[in-house]
Amino acid sequence: MSIIGDIAGKTAFVTGGASGIGLEIGRMLMEQGANVMLADMVPERLKAVKADLGNVETVLCDVADACSLKAAAKTTIETFGKVHIVVNNAGVSLGHTPGDTPLEDWQWLVDINLMGVINGIEIFTPLIKSHGEGGYFVNTASMSGHLATPQLGAYTATKFAVVGLSESLRMDLEPQGIGVSVLCPGWVKTDINKAHEGRPSGVEDDEQPSEAMQMVTEAVDNGLSPRFVAEWTVECMKAGRFYIFTHPSMRRWVQKRAAMVDADYAAIENDPRFQGR
Ligand SMILES: NC(=O)c1ccc[n+]([C@@H]2O[C@H](COP(=O)([O-])OP(=O)(O)OC[C@H]3O[C@@H](n4cnc5c(N)ncnc54)[C@H](O)[C@@H]3O)[C@@H](O)[C@H]2O)c1
Repeated sequence: MSIIGDIAGKTAFVTGGASGIGLEIGRMLMEQGANVMLADMVPERLKAVKADLGNVETVLCDVADACSLKAAAKTTIETFGKVHIVVNNAGVSLGHTPGDTPLEDWQWLVDINLMGVINGIEIFTPLIKSHGEGGYFVNTASMSGHLATPQLGAYTATKFAVVGLSESLRMDLEPQGIGVSVLCPGWVKTDINKAHEGRPSGVEDDEQPSEAMQMVTEAVDNGLSPRFVAEWTVECMKAGRFYIFTHPSMRRWVQKRAAMVDADYAAIENDPRFQGR
């Protein structure tokens, strides 16, 4: 069932909108007649995107900074009057070794990938409710929100959090006419592998990337096109589909994880110490 209805004439705010998945979701929404505000923290990219797409607006903002995101929301309301669709998509990635990761890098990742989504929800929910026309949140998580990968623990932690947060958000907002989807792509061919260059520690990787990280880089380089992911995302949003998956081949790993959880549950089920719990 569609909660958002016709996209034409609605206003969409997309974070991480100057590259990759966010840019293509913005383009897709624009093509379907929405007013689109693309928000990103890299001014040169925003400028290039504006020149390329033409019929969108752009705003500089850092999703990790609530004041900056609030100012971007204000600019959007001043430009378009209302916001209906919010795509909390900006994110960064970081391969790391446990016990050898500067805490400032952890903080950086959590602030963008998790606090960025939280800031988006807290700032835009009242704005969407205020016009009474309903709306939609798409929060970009990842298959790393369902499956763990070696040396991607920090990224995985933030993406599991975005999945859980979105599941709860849906329960709270759907009865009020605001839909929620969580985008969980597998590998997508974008610039995500360069994101670690912006980490605050600035620690140089003078070592060869590990086998696990080489595998991730290769998988992203051979990933789906962001355009395809955007098309599917908008289709799922219109259909009111909550989990937006892109890689059927990863389903068996999700099932394997569920079976592991189930097996450990079985261990307590017939133990008298847990009876009545
Ligand atoms: N590419 C993949 O394989 C993949 C897979 C699963 C999930 N994702 C997720 O998709 C989302 C988009 O990533 P992408 O793959 O398109 O990468 P990308 O690097 O091409 O795009 C990310 C954009 O976010 C912007 N950004 C980063 N930090 C920001 C901040 N603090 N404030 C505002 N903008 C910021 C960047 O400038 C960039 O334009 C991320 O959340 C990522 O975790 C990507």
